[in-house]
Amino acid sequence: MAHAQTIQLPRVLSGMRSTGKLHLGNYVGALKNWVELQNSGKYDCFFFIADWHALTTDYADTSRVKQNSIDVLLDWLAAGLDPEKSVMFIQSHVPQHAELFVLFSMITPLGWLERNPTYKEQRENIHDKDLGTFGFLGYPVLQAADILIYQANFVPVGQDQAAHVELTREIARRFNQFYPARGARTGRGADDLVFPEPQVLLTPSPKLPGTDGRKMSKSYGNQILLTDPEPVVRQKLKTMVTDPARVRRTDPGNPDVCPVGDLHKIFSSQATLAKVDAGCRTAGIGCIECKSWAADALVQVLDPMQQRRQHYEQNPKVAWDILEAGSARARQASEATMNEVRSAMQMSKAFEAPHDAAAG
Ligand code: TRP
Ligand code: SF4
Repeated sequence: MAHAQTIQLPRVLSGMRSTGKLHLGNYVGALKNWVELQNSGKYDCFFFIADWHALTTDYADTSRVKQNSIDVLLDWLAAGLDPEKSVMFIQSHVPQHAELFVLFSMITPLGWLERNPTYKEQRENIHDKDLGTFGFLGYPVLQAADILIYQANFVPVGQDQAAHVELTREIARRFNQFYPARGARTGRGADDLVFPEPQVLLTPSPKLPGTDGRKMSKSYGNQILLTDPEPVVRQKLKTMVTDPARVRRTDPGNPDVCPVGDLHKIFSSQATLAKVDAGCRTAGIGCIECKSWAADALVQVLDPMQQRRQHYEQNPKVAWDILEAGSARARQASEATMNEVRSAMQMSKAFEAPHDAAAG
């Protein structure tokens, strides 16, 4: 019995597709929450870079995949994910995910995948890539493997991923029905099921507009990156759209319908917020001034991140080693689950004498 943990904290697992440098929307909508879960000390946290999932849409050109993973990792470390507290790893370095994906693909009815709202929506909206692939349809099956292979209890994600977690629960139930656990469990969960049903930990995501007022998104080109230096942040704020009713400096405005007002609500102090609210509604302040305060607030959030990032940018090998150590730890946890899975399916790797050899 090596290193038996005395207290089992509930396990949290989440992942991000490796799509390159992260923006403020990724931070507010996911990463910030992950850092808080990590720092609460109440969970055993696993966070991973879903580079195989990135291939479901970007399979035709893989030249950026690895660099994108590194960029994501640097942003994670910059934002405060800490290898002393969380396991950080990369999906493609834990081949057990693929093994479990194959097994799940055998028991997942096609109808579940064809009905998946993200699938339908993306097939309708994305036309510059051919998404008529097996991998794209199977996206949530791989995601289920990602989650269940760690027997995770909680999955912090945004609303857009809730359907995928629901599908994960259905796959877990179906697996548990077909294949009751055999042999001693490793201790997680008191019942005889291989997979617990994970719960969504819905990330409270405030509306974070990009510079054009639409939701901040890489595909809209309206993003403020976590790596944007102060002058770039200030420049982007200058071009940001405001309350369209406030045409002249003397027109009163409404911060509740202004994207800059939204930024203040997320990042500014109560005092600044009060100044913005009163000043905007009475035309006591101008948009230029108001935007400079918003930029101040953003710079205050980004500056400590960028300082931490610098350390790893100068020592990229240190960052890579963190990912490798995390991946080794993830392989160990995954392999333990796969042993349970193989044994439940009566396909363990251990030698067994053929049934009919036991002559009677
Ligand atoms: N599908 C998720 C997204 O696009 C990324 C992801 C892949 C994930 N596997 C996961 C998230 C497992 C949570 C758990 O954001
Ligand atoms: Fe928006 Fe600020 Fe201008 Fe009001 S003063 S419209 S909140 S930018």
